[in-house]
Amino acid sequence: MSGALPTGTITFLLTDVEGSTMGWEADRAAMAAAIVRHYEILDGAVRARGGVRPVEQGEGDSVVAVFATASDAVRAAVDIQRALAAESWPEGVPRLAVRMALHTGDAQLRDAGNYMGRAVIRAARLRAIGHGGQILCSGATADIVGEDLPEAICLVELGAHRLKDLSRPEHVFQVAHPGLRREFPPLRSLDAVPNNLPVHLTSFIGREAELAEVAQLAVRHRLVTLTGSGGAGKTRLAARVAAELAATHADGAWWVELAPLTDPDLVTETLLGVLQVADAPGSSALQRLTAHLASRDLLVVLDNCEHLSRRALPSARPSCAAARVSGCWPPAGKPSAWAGRSRGRSRRCACPTARTSRRPNR
Ligand SMILES: Nc1ncnc2c1ncn2[C@@H]1O[C@H](COP(=O)(O)OP(=O)(O)O)[C@@H](O)[C@H]1O
Ligand SMILES: [Mg+2]
Repeated sequence: MSGALPTGTITFLLTDVEGSTMGWEADRAAMAAAIVRHYEILDGAVRARGGVRPVEQGEGDSVVAVFATASDAVRAAVDIQRALAAESWPEGVPRLAVRMALHTGDAQLRDAGNYMGRAVIRAARLRAIGHGGQILCSGATADIVGEDLPEAICLVELGAHRLKDLSRPEHVFQVAHPGLRREFPPLRSLDAVPNNLPVHLTSFIGREAELAEVAQLAVRHRLVTLTGSGGAGKTRLAARVAAELAATHADGAWWVELAPLTDPDLVTETLLGVLQVADAPGSSALQRLTAHLASRDLLVVLDNCEHLSRRALPSARPSCAAARVSGCWPPAGKPSAWAGRSRGRSRRCACPTARTSRRPNR
């Protein structure tokens, strides 16, 4: 199947069959039948959503399809996985597990019938870290589809991953649908960034300006504080920024939930636990934490600090200069004092407000 190939900014859908070599070795005839049927399903779904398959692109069992509209590409991928799952395969024909990746970028044509260039390479690298039955999508595609997805489809954040041979890490999402398998083993990225950031099952909506601002502040400053009324979105914004920045920290991004703590003296122990710092006889908890942070490059998010006193947050002290700390920390009952000490914006708004420490990061 082919047609006039779209140009400009397009979305690539790349697929391949997981474990197909084993299938071919086990039963060539059955595998050939399964692959033919899989191509029929794929072609039908791609065409139905307005996509095109370049003439000969994709080798072996892999397929490349392109779409002028990112949300159509996402819908096509979901249609294909659902059709493959619903298919009653003839006896002896293996159930194919197809992995998929979506990425949006500028189209570069190699000739009239094939693409080349960075976008298609990134899509291929993304496909390589997924599992059969899984649909991955890049940060670029996620940003474009945003709120433009049908109710049943949502994007699940899987964090930042470095892709083979590519310098810029990718913020990876899984396309989820009630009719599709949801749980998969960890992605096969070569060096998934160590983190314990929360996974959200709903898409992140809007807040582009705040995202950019907080990310910029967190790069420049050692401590960034997000304040705002309950439900304003501080936690969600901090989680998203941390996911964006995680790959830029060699020792990863760590989420420390302080809401359950009532005793400020337990904050240091909680940090030691999350960061998995080993015991060191003769050293205090604070000494161990300081020593650990001093030799590492990591991002820490302290969520829900408002009920704990400021002295309880040792990693925010100048003595722990190696830590980059982002947190949610409006001191309870002292809004005016806090506003007076802050260099940040003090306007009241429904969005979380970002404030920074006076000390630059580097
Ligand atoms: N940008 C966003 N996109 C999608 N959901 C959001 C966004 N911001 C907040 N939410 C949702 O709104 C609710 C409250 O946000 P939360 O970050 O917990 O607020 P806060 O930490 O300020 O109390 C949560 O369910 C959260 O997932
Ligand atoms: Mg919160």
